[in-house]
Amino acid sequence: MSGETAALAIQDPPYNLVAFDQRGLSEYISWCSEWVRVTDTALAPNSALYVWLGADQRSGYQPLPDFMLMMRQKPFQPRSFITMRNQRGYGTQHNWMAVRQELLYYSKGLPKFNVDAEYTEIPKILRGYYKEVGGEMTENLQRSKSENIRAGNVWVDIQQVFYRMEENVNGCYAQKPPKSAERIVKANSEPGDIVLDSFSHAGTTLIASELLSRRCFTSDIDPVYCEITIRRLEHFRATGKMGWQNGNPFEREMWQDKTLQQLIEVPTEPTQQLELLGGS
Ligand SMILES: C[S@@+](CC[C@H](N)C(=O)[O-])C[C@H]1O[C@@H](n2cnc3c(N)ncnc32)[C@H](O)[C@@H]1O
Repeated sequence: MSGETAALAIQDPPYNLVAFDQRGLSEYISWCSEWVRVTDTALAPNSALYVWLGADQRSGYQPLPDFMLMMRQKPFQPRSFITMRNQRGYGTQHNWMAVRQELLYYSKGLPKFNVDAEYTEIPKILRGYYKEVGGEMTENLQRSKSENIRAGNVWVDIQQVFYRMEENVNGCYAQKPPKSAERIVKANSEPGDIVLDSFSHAGTTLIASELLSRRCFTSDIDPVYCEITIRRLEHFRATGKMGWQNGNPFEREMWQDKTLQQLIEVPTEPTQQLELLGGS
């Protein structure tokens, strides 16, 4: 980062679940402590840190509480414990369906917070909360700043990414909805600011930063996800689309490589083939 510092970091590490290399819990928390320390060095004196994390209900709700305890030793202030609701969940008929995604918001110094970013597209419908203002009885809709509700710390208005959506990136099972990254970027940074994301995966933070004219520094330990991140940005710049609805970042190779074609399904419709070849 050439000595520059970030206004905001959005970190979405692997959750110590089986999809990634499973480590012992204390080893996992030590690793988190280390990347939080490194993140701190890259953040400006007044900045924000967001961390997506899970709580495994089949395993002592780890690692979320252990991570929170570790963070008490760090130079960050806890600000909000946000839950985003997934539309699809997992579980059995014998338990509540697991539909939550946890997001921790920490601050360093006094970061900016743009409250406008918090307003959803959901109109307010509840009347009530009567209060006297200037000798007149008013109800909450008269007093409020917006016709719409604030997201608060339970986000129910963001659609989970699935394959039929334009922003979908096939093969990236851990991708977050771009809208969630946009909300965070708008809330805690200004155009031109630097946003950091050390766990890029599908490049969601990078795309939100590009859309909102922020500069993003991102990385991933897996070169395939690095390549996907680069291709997603190039695809966005070329087409304005955030992903590959019913396609994927490697479709050109799939169409050209005979061995790959035998291993995976490739489109057989001539129009789709033409699109893959750039319409020529
Ligand atoms: C949960 S995903 C991030 C999802 C991302 N927020 C998105 O919306 O696409 C975690 C990513 O962290 C990467 N990763 C795991 N260990 C890492 C490390 N030590 N350094 C950098 N990236 C790492 C994984 O390869 C994976 O792509």
